Amino acid sequence: MLDIPKAELHVHIEGTMEPEMVFELARRNEVELPYSSVAELRSRYEFTDLQSFLDIYYANMAVLRTRRDFRELAAAYLRESARQGVRHAEIFFDPQAHLARGVEMAPIVEGLSEGIAEVADSGVTAELILCFLRDESAGSAMDTLRLAEPFLDHIIGVGLDSAEVGHPPSKFTDVFERARELGLRAVAHAGEEGPAEYVREALDLLRVERVDHGIRALYDPGLVDRLRREQTPLTVCPLSNVRLGSFDHLSQHTLPRLMAEGLMVTINSDDPAYFGGYVGENFSAVREHLGITREQLRQLAANSVRASFLGSERKSALL
Ligand code: ADE
Ligand code: ZN
Repeated sequence: MLDIPKAELHVHIEGTMEPEMVFELARRNEVELPYSSVAELRSRYEFTDLQSFLDIYYANMAVLRTRRDFRELAAAYLRESARQGVRHAEIFFDPQAHLARGVEMAPIVEGLSEGIAEVADSGVTAELILCFLRDESAGSAMDTLRLAEPFLDHIIGVGLDSAEVGHPPSKFTDVFERARELGLRAVAHAGEEGPAEYVREALDLLRVERVDHGIRALYDPGLVDRLRREQTPLTVCPLSNVRLGSFDHLSQHTLPRLMAEGLMVTINSDDPAYFGGYVGENFSAVREHLGITREQLRQLAANSVRASFLGSERKSALL
């Protein structure tokens, strides 16, 4: 399945930082880590829920300081993904987490863009999606969007991530409206740990074009009918959902039900350095544990290309 051309639409670039890179950047940037080895850090990757993961994800980000760091991070992710058949990626980044440490918007955005350009000769393309942290205020999100305005040439859209429960999409209606006025596309995490109602809010209030995760939509039959009718893409992340406790084992994942309902499902890695695999490993895992056939994998890969923000010509070339 590595040979099937695919797009990755749900990956947080900070979640692609492998433990070895955490240590390398810590040394280079003279950041002290509370772990003595890569093995010790990796042994902490036992999560019970989203927050238990986010705590270590944000802590590790402290090593990301310079334009070069962001460039190397993006290039490393894209090289590995290209090896796994990814021909296009739409990559989330969390500027608020870096701005809070005094890293400016320019090295973040320009560094990531340089990393994308560096691997262009391998045939993989990528775009950047600026995510707002939903557990920060709406005002902070608006300030972040304002700081990003000089860099909009590098950014295709906005997203919404971080701790979901208690932070409904409705909190960000105004900032998503402003983003749309600026010509940006819109996606949002919804229905990962939060209720189906958050998926409805993301669609109705944020007017998102894709829903990231969306697995909890299955609790609301009327919403499932709507997602089917409108063919709204869901960027599902199977290994992530197991590692963060939505399902006890991959064999219990509701991916087959989402597909049987006729929804526009795609397969993605979310935070591959933390959850045990890049997009290719997610494809292999659902084939092995959920009985997804090779034909269905082809369908899922085609969905990812169709659900991307690529133009119609490039989509046709990848289908
Ligand atoms: N940030 C990084 N990974 C995330 C996830 N799975 N859900 C919400 N925010 C995230
Ligand atoms: Zn995510």
